[in-house]
Amino acid sequence: MTLRAKLTGTGMCVPDNVVTNHDLAKLMDTSDEWIRQRSGIVERRHVVPPQRPSELAEVAAQRALESAGIDAGDLDLIILATLSAEADFPGTSFFLQDRLGLSETPCFDLRAQCSGFVYSLSVANAFVKSGQYRRVLVVGCEVHSTGLDFSDDGRDVTVLFGDGAGAVIVEANDDPDDAGEILEVRIHAEGSFADKLWVEAPGSGLHPRMTQEILDEKRHYPRMQGRFVFKHATRRMPEVLLQTLSAASLKLEDVDHFLFHQANLRINEYVATQLEIPPEKCPSNIERYGNCSAASIPMLLDENVREGRIEPGDLVAMASFGAGFSWTSAVLRWS
Ligand code: UT7
Repeated sequence: MTLRAKLTGTGMCVPDNVVTNHDLAKLMDTSDEWIRQRSGIVERRHVVPPQRPSELAEVAAQRALESAGIDAGDLDLIILATLSAEADFPGTSFFLQDRLGLSETPCFDLRAQCSGFVYSLSVANAFVKSGQYRRVLVVGCEVHSTGLDFSDDGRDVTVLFGDGAGAVIVEANDDPDDAGEILEVRIHAEGSFADKLWVEAPGSGLHPRMTQEILDEKRHYPRMQGRFVFKHATRRMPEVLLQTLSAASLKLEDVDHFLFHQANLRINEYVATQLEIPPEKCPSNIERYGNCSAASIPMLLDENVREGRIEPGDLVAMASFGAGFSWTSAVLRWS
């Protein structure tokens, strides 16, 4: 019998601290109107000291475990996707493992930026289908706010990003009567555009990794060629979505919910229009949370499951685009 993997639980956590567009306009030369118009974002959440990424990840993970009806001790593996790790090393997943009260469960971080969650899902799916592990916790977790430039120089990037964590439990499904399944996942990358959206420092490619000059040149803050990223996102997301659906022998019309990475509402509207997807099939929460990178898709999934919009039997398609460049899609049956 071919082993199948399905999602059995979801959870999310965002910091309580709400930062509105108006709050940012007090710090830098921007406006609520510009941010809403270009991105759809109204507010986002930022951690307050001493809050750490693994705290958000822990709450999201506990909620996912609870909704799956299992304990942390039942987990065989933890994968945590992030581009904003708690420390240079070890990965955030190690801090999370400890917070969950586990001492030997294997864990690792996966770095594929805004595509990190679906990349991690593909790894979890492969582990479960191979029979090596039965229960995998996959977390997307980001604390962007501690690494953003809140001066005018950083306004193009800073207004877009927020902090948060989302988690799912991926489990083996041995029940032939249970349709729940991760049907297909596709992951892609194009490293020649690595410097179109990146944080260069501190990095081991620099000698040394951090200097006063690097700080003065602000090379430790994210840099993005926004229009270039936008153009590629609106090409790659429809492309990979169609590829994944075709691999699963499904059509766009079969899909009940399209969960797109929440980078920019305009990108997602553009993708939906291109593919003639009705807007009501494309939920969004970017207006409340901004771009939470690897956390954005699992956060959106959790909200839609808990609010009862995603129901057993529904077909869910995910798609992302992010730094790297990286882009992905997954299609799954909810049960
Ligand atoms: O997670 C995946 C990675 N990220 C993305 O997918 C983001 C992709 N890119 C985008 O979403 C859009 O390119 C942005 C929302 C980042 C920017 O929108 P845009 O329409 O492409 O604007 P732009 O970068 O071409 O800038 C237009 C103007 C510029 O001024 P001038 O040169 O026309 O005078 C910018 O300096 O807007 C200015 N600007 C701002 N103005 C007010 C840039 N950032 C801001 C700001 N507030 N925060």
